[in-house]
Amino acid sequence: MQNFIYHNPTKLIFGKGEIAKLGEYIDKRVKVMLLFGGGSVKQNGVYDQVKKALKDHNTIEFWGIEPNPKIETLRKAISQAKAEKIDLFLAVGGGSVLDGTKLVAAGVKYDGDPWEIALKGYADRSADYASVMTLSATGSEMNAGAVISRGETNEKFAFFSSKYPLFSILDPQTTYSIPIDQLANGLSDIFVHVLEQYMTATGQSRVMDRWAEGIMQTIAEIAPTVLDNPNDYETRSDYMICAALALNGMIAMGVTQDWSTHMIGHELTALTGIAHGATLAVIYPATLSVLKDRKKDKILQYADRVWRISGGNENMIVQKAISATESFFRSLGLKTRLFEYGVGEEIIGEIVERFAKRKTILGENGDIDAAVVKKILLECK
Ligand code: NZQ
Ligand code: ZN
Repeated sequence: MQNFIYHNPTKLIFGKGEIAKLGEYIDKRVKVMLLFGGGSVKQNGVYDQVKKALKDHNTIEFWGIEPNPKIETLRKAISQAKAEKIDLFLAVGGGSVLDGTKLVAAGVKYDGDPWEIALKGYADRSADYASVMTLSATGSEMNAGAVISRGETNEKFAFFSSKYPLFSILDPQTTYSIPIDQLANGLSDIFVHVLEQYMTATGQSRVMDRWAEGIMQTIAEIAPTVLDNPNDYETRSDYMICAALALNGMIAMGVTQDWSTHMIGHELTALTGIAHGATLAVIYPATLSVLKDRKKDKILQYADRVWRISGGNENMIVQKAISATESFFRSLGLKTRLFEYGVGEEIIGEIVERFAKRKTILGENGDIDAAVVKKILLECK
């Protein structure tokens, strides 16, 4: 196991009725900006719950943070927040609203154009922020990362805030209204977050491996109920917690990681608008296929422990594990090939060119360059 420091200060507040206590976590003297997406919170009652809980607080509202939050929208929130001297930013929504809020909280402490924060990949300073989650997928509720898009140039970059959310409230009942395609995207995202921290080399940490495998098994087990039975509180609870645990650093302690699929997926979303979790379902099986020789030992462990695959020689087991992964995404109702989205050579070429220009090197061994990215994209054609 490699050396590490683990420090995750986010207070996770979980369960039925917890949104009603929101006011207890926020000092009445601070000025709060509430940030929302396109309006789902008005339909499912979360907006009313938040407003009621904060009725004695000093709040203003910012609406319209879109899926794959855009810098063009967030600049407006930053100007308003600077003018209003906001102390605390409260995201009410999914990962996009929270990611956008992270950029706004950093942007109010930054003098230049906030897009520079996304380009640099980190923020030196940030105002306080917190969240009430209504869609679990990204793990943004318990990490300092955020992914921001720029509409004018079709770019999408991740950055790390200098702060974590002060708190995140997860009431599984808020997820009852999530449309089935967004749930499928979310389950895919959670599963691939775990894989990107797991699918490297064996023998680095038994406990990290077992935690990761446990989250993947849980997602595979609950997925049918999550998709078919929207009001099942217990599976929605596990779904929400899996999302938080998958990307709060807990399964990454002391082990190597390979975020290739995410990096390729972000480009695909930036250029085509395909939802984040949906891009991963297309790219991950191809990544595994192209990298199967270097990741063979870990794929064999994954085949055995997550999918209980046995029989046949090692190469056959590896192949079955790749197929099981693709079938899992298919079982969520997701597409797993680029042509199904009408994505062809032109987009593939553009993505490869972007990686080549930026000289991006990915993978746990730093050996996945633009040429390997091209192989992966051709594999999922
Ligand atoms: O905008 P509203 O009206 O709220 O509707 C949203 C949106 O249209 C809707 N929704 C959310 N909660 C709902 C609901 N509809 C009904 N009932 C509810 N309870 O769902 C739509 C999608 O929401 P979005 O926030 O975009 O989804 P998600 O949480 O999957 O976030 C995706 C974004 O997170 C980034 C992705 O790249 C993408 O931009 N990621 C962030 C990460 C992080 N911060 O650590 C890591 C991830 O790998 C990911 O890259
Ligand atoms: Zn993701």
